[in-house]
Amino acid sequence: MTTATRPTTGVSRTAVIIAQARATEDARPDRLFADPLAAHLVDAVGWIQVADAGRMNQEYFALRTRFFDDHLQAAAAAGCTQVVLLAAGLDTRAFRLTWPDGTQLFEVDLPALVAFKEAVLRARRATPACDRVVLPVDLRDDWRSALVDAGFDPEQPTAWLVEGLLMYLDTGANDTLLAELGELSAPGSSLGFEHANQAYVDLPQMQEVWRRLERFNATWSSTLDDPVAWAARHGWDAQVTTADELAERHGRPVPPLTDPALVGDARMWLVEATRSDR
Ligand SMILES: C[S@@+](CC[C@H](N)C(=O)[O-])C[C@H]1O[C@@H](n2cnc3c(N)ncnc32)[C@H](O)[C@@H]1O
Repeated sequence: MTTATRPTTGVSRTAVIIAQARATEDARPDRLFADPLAAHLVDAVGWIQVADAGRMNQEYFALRTRFFDDHLQAAAAAGCTQVVLLAAGLDTRAFRLTWPDGTQLFEVDLPALVAFKEAVLRARRATPACDRVVLPVDLRDDWRSALVDAGFDPEQPTAWLVEGLLMYLDTGANDTLLAELGELSAPGSSLGFEHANQAYVDLPQMQEVWRRLERFNATWSSTLDDPVAWAARHGWDAQVTTADELAERHGRPVPPLTDPALVGDARMWLVEATRSDR
């Protein structure tokens, strides 16, 4: 067990819940991806009892992970030599995916979460499959200077990933974040992000989740009803994939909280975008 502070509160706690979903997926014989480090990271915290809706979302998190795995691998193959995971949480893509030679992968997250994760990875003697750079920094501070100081080159194309973060920031902070990363995005850059619409937040099935998140000081602060238009305003050509499309792609049942037949207009958006204005 690591001596670093365990991420049991705040938004960092949600990183553990996502890692639990990946560990569970890793154990399946028909898994959509391998993530052998996920269970070690979760074990070091202690498994978290999730709400019913959280259990229902397990399959969604697995589909989401595979979706952004494929997105990042395609971006790297297309020439993005830099990968930046904003709010990386307990993501282990630097270790578990195959990267082209010379790929630099930056992980940004809050200092306490990073300290915990690095302690576990060191104890496992985990070896990254790329040049991995870890940045313990708050995205509300000057993260761009920290990134550039750590070796990031704004003139090189970058694959950005903002997975499981935007809903925890308010609309203004999301606008700022997208503007900031846009300024660092050379031609050929790509962006993956996830968000949810207001109808999703209003789902009766989600109310227990919101109550639990509130108890841990990890409430959602924004929704997004038109991700393509929002991305376009920030200079990105975006396309959306929904979880039911992904489920069909991978021969999985549609996760109940993302099944239009059960949730009407409620949507989690999985978005891929390329730079349109440079
Ligand atoms: C739901 S988790 C998602 C983690 C990861 N992207 C994944 O999908 O597994 C949200 C992450 O955002 C991080 N986070 C929240 N606020 C942040 C901030 N202001 N700056 C940096 N990271 C932040 C948390 O520490 C946590 O790891």
